[in-house]
Amino acid sequence: MKLAVLSRAPQSYSTQRLRAAALQRGHRVKVLNTLRFAIDLTADEPDLHYRGRQLSDYDAILPRIGSSITYFGTAVVRQFEQMDVYTPNTANGISSARDKLRANQILSRHNIAMPPTAFVRNRADVRPAIERVGGAPVVIKLLEGTQGIGVILAPQVKVAEAIIETLHSTNQNVLIQKFIAESRGRDIRALVVGDRVVAAMRRVAAGDEFRSNVHRGGTVEPVELDPVYEQTAVRSAQIMGLRVAGVDMLEGEDGPLVMEVNSSPGLQGIETATKLDAAGAIIDYIANQVGFPEIDVRQRLTVSTGYGVAELLVHSDADLVGKTLGESGLWERDITVLTLHRGVQVIPNPRKNVVLEAEDRLLCFGKLEEMRSMIPERRRRRARVRRLPKQPLAE
Ligand SMILES: Nc1ncnc2c1ncn2[C@@H]1O[C@H](COP(=O)(O)OP(=O)(O)O)[C@@H](O)[C@H]1O
Ligand SMILES: [Mg+2]
Repeated sequence: MKLAVLSRAPQSYSTQRLRAAALQRGHRVKVLNTLRFAIDLTADEPDLHYRGRQLSDYDAILPRIGSSITYFGTAVVRQFEQMDVYTPNTANGISSARDKLRANQILSRHNIAMPPTAFVRNRADVRPAIERVGGAPVVIKLLEGTQGIGVILAPQVKVAEAIIETLHSTNQNVLIQKFIAESRGRDIRALVVGDRVVAAMRRVAAGDEFRSNVHRGGTVEPVELDPVYEQTAVRSAQIMGLRVAGVDMLEGEDGPLVMEVNSSPGLQGIETATKLDAAGAIIDYIANQVGFPEIDVRQRLTVSTGYGVAELLVHSDADLVGKTLGESGLWERDITVLTLHRGVQVIPNPRKNVVLEAEDRLLCFGKLEEMRSMIPERRRRRARVRRLPKQPLAE
């Protein structure tokens, strides 16, 4: 294949290793500076220029987009997607993962455990938010920090409030997060490629530091991952739309707590710690996927008017429970079931003989009008147990 590594750091360990691994396997590979692309929307077909000249044909790209150029970098990746060039990480995936809040919001929808987190802006909401995540000591995070910069541990509520207020006054958005003390300055980094973890390490913070980032002096050691950690890492990467990702997890009392999913994971620490050929695994995966580019399903499926994608919930009191998909009548109503979600289990392309259970969620493609009548009324949020019974719900 002919591969382009999009990177602004051709000399960095990761880029060098990826380049070498590709060459070693007989691929053609170029490292292209992300910022030297020009997106061309004048022609009939989507096109790209590089250093002022039309770009030649590539089979695949591997984006390594730094946080300082997210907007331009993801625009370039999106342009490659429009040109049907394979990328393991989509522009959407990269931008969702980059923003810690956005990543949290997406993952929380899919039963991925994360440290309790709050996001507020008004001064009056800061203290209740700190209390809700468990009080001091509390972790404060800038939305787009990396390498541990912008992650602060505030020992007392008063200090936390002062820090948050200061950051807000300079127009910075911050997350308020429970400090997971039992993790004791250690965390797990799992490198996910495709649907498996190809390497994993534990990072241990230096001295009394609580951040285990290598850039903050943390040390690394190989680790044999518990299957729960492995599944959590793979699912998190998949949910974010990333086929190459570094998933950071704290070791909580009840198992893994996902902190973030990195779309351009560094390779130096993990290859050094594990002695594994992570770069080679990434290249092999890409070579396997070339010619089978991922498409934006929503974008493609909603172009035919009147048709679209929707999720239908099987109510416990509905007459669908106990019926097979074949008997459900969905097909007759011009509705195709793409996947069936049952708890954490996913059944792709479910067959006619699958028996529906209460609480099954069906991802369907079909006539919007038909599906609209089947979408359940918005479920009312149950008041939390912790909430005082007399306290009215906010508007
Ligand atoms: N809620 C938390 N509880 C305990 N330690 C944390 C928490 N959040 C972050 N850390 C520590 O700080 C490090 C950096 O946090 P992270 O959210 O990954 O930011 P960055 O993007 O800067 O790496 C983590 O690797 C972990 O060691
Ligand atoms: Mg991190």
